[in-house]
Amino acid sequence: TSAQIGVTGLAVMGRNLARNFARNGYTVAVHNRTVSRTKALVKEFGHEGDFIAAETAEEFVAALERPRRLVIMVKAGEPTDAVIQEFAPLLEPGDMIIDGGNAHFADTRRRERDLRERGVHFVGTGISGGEEGALHGPSIMPGGSKESYESLGPMLEKISAKAADGAPCVTHCGPDGAGHFVKMVHNGIEYADMQLIGEAYQLLRDVAGYTPAQIADIFRTWNTGRLDSYLIEITAEVLSHVDAATGKPFVDVVVDQAEQKGTGRWTVQIALDLGVPVSGIAEAVFARSLSGHAALREASRGLAGPTASALSESEAAAFADRVEQALYASKIVSYTQGFHEIAAGSEEYGWDIDLGAISAIWRGGCIIRAAFLDRIRAAYGARPDLPSLLSDETFAREIAAAQDDWREVLVAAVRQGVPTPGFAAALAYYDALRAERLPAALTQAQRDFFGAHTYRRVDRDGAFHTLWGGDRNEVSA
Ligand code: 6PG
Repeated sequence: TSAQIGVTGLAVMGRNLARNFARNGYTVAVHNRTVSRTKALVKEFGHEGDFIAAETAEEFVAALERPRRLVIMVKAGEPTDAVIQEFAPLLEPGDMIIDGGNAHFADTRRRERDLRERGVHFVGTGISGGEEGALHGPSIMPGGSKESYESLGPMLEKISAKAADGAPCVTHCGPDGAGHFVKMVHNGIEYADMQLIGEAYQLLRDVAGYTPAQIADIFRTWNTGRLDSYLIEITAEVLSHVDAATGKPFVDVVVDQAEQKGTGRWTVQIALDLGVPVSGIAEAVFARSLSGHAALREASRGLAGPTASALSESEAAAFADRVEQALYASKIVSYTQGFHEIAAGSEEYGWDIDLGAISAIWRGGCIIRAAFLDRIRAAYGARPDLPSLLSDETFAREIAAAQDDWREVLVAAVRQGVPTPGFAAALAYYDALRAERLPAALTQAQRDFFGAHTYRRVDRDGAFHTLWGGDRNEVSA
């Protein structure tokens, strides 16, 4: 017998993915550098399906039916290159290597190009949903050739999460690095969602005066409405959790320094290169990095500022409703920014990514899964050429209805000294986009003044320069 798919790299994500394939009826070859891990998997989970344990790379490759489908689930970066180098010489034209790690899309492009020369398909694939998702159904974002998707797609569809309407949460994102690019932006949006939820929590705590347990209840209520999402759901779980050792709210015993493995940072770095304003996502990345500067924070503790004072009970309830509006409006903005980045990446690299299809596969399985994503899908469905999510009538109407509360929440935050960089950046983006005139005109004039960088005029075509140091006459540049 031969295996329809192989998984090498059997840490928790790889192991769960292999089990997911096996549970769905596929024969799965499994391989790990340390053989004990392979044996442990088969011993513990062998009853779940058909596994072929391979001890060496040669055995592993020999166990696979042709064309071979070989999934690598190792750390992004050098470990991935090392595994590719180990297996590539053993493969034949038509075979596929699927990289399910959180690779940088530029690495994926390079690997795809190198392997294409040997006729091997390299399928950079974003997989979201953590350990549970890998086992029970993740959201899957494959890139690579169309041909490879024809062979792999049905298998991925089978093991993927299903949206509420039954649609599998997987789509062929586009050639070479498209899948990993989409996964990168998914993670950037994930950072923004988490930051916005964090700001909402802090406002409910410091301005409204609620306890973590009360805030958990508020999040539970929100989770029955338009904010219904995995991240809101787990936030309620976390906030209602009490630390066994101290009896304190769990959130109060965790060190308040957020870490990151880097995908959110990449989202911002690439956005800078592409010239896409992802200010909300950037603030989320910066907020994590600021939190980690312990010494700087310690040195700054004595700086002047107001301390938040709690509201009365009825005021607090009204404020909580406003925070929901602010959170929802800010969320629309961060998704607007994330989708803009995908569109820009698609344009730059010629990927032809279908934004509606991407929002559809994020409805289930992944970390940012949310009812909201079905509405984004509907928006792109109604108008595939939508210039921005904010141009969708429904979202525009919702923001219009939310904006007074959104502004009020920011006023309260500023007055009381509660940092809300995510909410503020989102609102500034919104106000800047809708502005009749921006001070960019002044920026251009300044640039022309000190560097003769020229400017365009509102009333005539062409580039112009004013002789600032001389008679201030205008000349054509
Ligand atoms: C997912 C997650 C996953 C992982 C992140 C965490 O989609 O399943 O995004 O990829 O949990 O890498 O990212 P940070 O460590 O950067 O917060």
